[in-house]
Amino acid sequence: MDLQGRSYLKDADFDAAELLAVVELAATLRREKRDGRERRRLDGKHVALIFQKTSTRTRMAFEVGAHDQGAHSSYLGPGESQLGAKESPSDTARVLGRMVDGIEFRGFAQADAETLAASAGVPVWNGLTDTWHPTQSLADVLTLQDHAGRPLDDVSLCFLGDGAANVCASLLTTGAMLGMDLRIASPAGRRPSPAVWAAAAELAAASGASLRVSDDPKEAVEGADFLYTDVWLSLGEPEELWDERIDALLPYQVNAALMAATGNPSTKLLHCLPAFHNASTAIGRQIHARRGLEAMEVTDEVFESPASVAFDQAENRLHTIKALMVATLVGL
Ligand code: CP
Repeated sequence: MDLQGRSYLKDADFDAAELLAVVELAATLRREKRDGRERRRLDGKHVALIFQKTSTRTRMAFEVGAHDQGAHSSYLGPGESQLGAKESPSDTARVLGRMVDGIEFRGFAQADAETLAASAGVPVWNGLTDTWHPTQSLADVLTLQDHAGRPLDDVSLCFLGDGAANVCASLLTTGAMLGMDLRIASPAGRRPSPAVWAAAAELAAASGASLRVSDDPKEAVEGADFLYTDVWLSLGEPEELWDERIDALLPYQVNAALMAATGNPSTKLLHCLPAFHNASTAIGRQIHARRGLEAMEVTDEVFESPASVAFDQAENRLHTIKALMVATLVGL
């Protein structure tokens, strides 16, 4: 298996064996770092990090991961490069490709990530677009392996809330590749697109995965090993949509009653973060003032409970993104 020189723009760009090999490398790199014996595989490399949107985890994972492995990184934040305003993705890609060894892109249009990869001549990694969030899925898989205690084709996971969002699309695709029992609980208007669902169904037919979608959260979580939720409102989403979105998704909030409805005392909570689990953020305070809600997609009680593995999942962004850079820049 050779991933050197490959881009990672969406989950299905790697097959199940390739994806699991990157995750296995991530576990090795995590052990090396924790034991203080990390070997620098990326000495002399330089990566460009293009962020058209803000980030905490993804940016830090690329910067710290590159540094740990001996590489340098250059951060081009929102509004800090010519990309989009004065220069096309293709021209920017051809410039950066002559200067650096790999490019991370977080932006809006998946087409921009595809254009960068087609023109750069170096690996391009999707750090989130409106369509996919594939580096998040790598961390999710490592976290599932850490906490499941058995192979993932024997694990059930229910995603609750905004099934139309990029995180759900990536999770659905990856879970389908790995043979998981995947349920999505979301209202009719917030389901995965027909194209995403059809592609996942094809992968599921090959792997033996089970995919289900339901508008009944209690039925969907029955027996689930993991519940996974994500924010209901993305940054920049127009305020006039907020009330309608919250009304539609409130029945899918992960709270103590829904955790109990699993009937499984070992069920764990996953969340890609950031999370609106209290009113300690500007948006949280705005929602509280407007709607009287203390939390949105997950209650503080569940988020802060021992069932939550969201911070393990956040740490795993570092190890998996580092593994992705190593695998695609110098090989497994
Ligand atoms: N989960 C995630 O992508 O986090 P950031 O937006 O902080 O990068």
